[in-house]
Amino acid sequence: MSDQPKLELHLHLEGAAPPAFIRAQAKRKNTDLSRIFDENGTYAYRDFADFLRVYEAACTVLTSPQDFHDLTLAVLERSAEAGVIYTEAFLSPDFCGGGDLAAWRDYLAAIEAAAQQAEAQMGITLRGCVTCIRHFGPDQARRIAKCAQETAGHFITGFGIAGDETVLHPRDFAYAFDAAREAGLGLTAHAGEWGGPDSVRDALTHLRVSRIGHGVRAVEDPALVEHLAERGVVLEVCPGSNIALGLYRDWRSHPIDRLRRAGVRVTVSTDDPPFFHTTMRNEYTRLADAFGWTEQDFAEINQIALHAAFCDPETRAAIKKKLEAT
Ligand code: ADE
Ligand code: ZN
Repeated sequence: MSDQPKLELHLHLEGAAPPAFIRAQAKRKNTDLSRIFDENGTYAYRDFADFLRVYEAACTVLTSPQDFHDLTLAVLERSAEAGVIYTEAFLSPDFCGGGDLAAWRDYLAAIEAAAQQAEAQMGITLRGCVTCIRHFGPDQARRIAKCAQETAGHFITGFGIAGDETVLHPRDFAYAFDAAREAGLGLTAHAGEWGGPDSVRDALTHLRVSRIGHGVRAVEDPALVEHLAERGVVLEVCPGSNIALGLYRDWRSHPIDRLRRAGVRVTVSTDDPPFFHTTMRNEYTRLADAFGWTEQDFAEINQIALHAAFCDPETRAAIKKKLEAT
C-alpha cells in the first residue's frame, strides 16, 4: 500500500528543500550555514522555535527565481519517487522577494515552469497555496494576500497562514483572508498544532477556512471534534511532523486514528519532509503499522484529499482518472 498513488495537501516548498540542496546553495553564495546542520548533514533544531529559525536561515540562500526553479524540481522529484501524483505546496512570497508583487511574479513564473517540467517528466501535478507567516504580522500578511489575489488562477489556487501559532490572533489576519476569499482562493490555516482547541475554533470563526493545517489538538475537545465532523472540515494531518517536533511521543499516541474514527475528514501529508526524516511513503507505512490501516483506508483518505484539493474541476477530474487507473 505504500506504493499506492498519493495526494498531499500540506507541503512547504522551502521546508521540503533537501539539506544537500541548501548546502550547495550556501557554498555557491559563500554563506556559512554550518550551524543549521548536524554531523550527519541533516537539519538540526532543538524545538519548534528553533525549527523556525533553522527554516528561515535555510531560506536565506534561496535568493533568485532560478533557485526556486531548481528547488521545485528537486522537491517534486522526491515527492514523485514517494508515489505522490498531486501535491499542494505552500509558497511564501516572504521568501520570494520579501512580499514585493513584481518580484513575486518572477519567482512564481520560475516555480510554475519547473512544475510544468516535472509534470511532463514525472507525472506529478503541483498547485500553489500562497501562505503568509503569522509571526511576520498582519501588515505583511496583507501584502502577501495581495500577491495571492493578483496571481490567483489555474496554478495559485489557495491561501493560508503558517508560522508561530502562539503569537497574535486569527482575527488579526481576517482582512488578508477576506481578500483571498474574494479572489476565489481556497482557504486553510495552521491551527491546533501549538495552540489547543480554541485556536482551531478561532481559525474557523475569524478566517472562515474549509481546511485546517494540522488541527490535531481538536481531539482535546469532544464538542469540537463533533463540530469538525458535522461541518466536514478537512484536517491536513502531518503525523511524522508532529512526532518529530515532540507534540506526540510516538505513532501509536498520535490522534489521527481517533479523529478519523470520530468521523473527522483527515488527510495525510509530510509538512517539511527532510526536517522530519519522512516521505509520503514512510507516512503511509507508519500509519499502517500503528493503526492497521489498509489499502482501502488509504484509498478513502485519497478521496477526501481529492475533494478537498483547491484545484480547478479539470485538474480534479484528471487526478481522479489517475487514481482510478491504479
Ligand atoms: N512552517 C513550516 N512548517 C510549519 C509547521 N509545522 N508549523 C507552522 N509553520 C510551519
Ligand atoms: Zn505546515
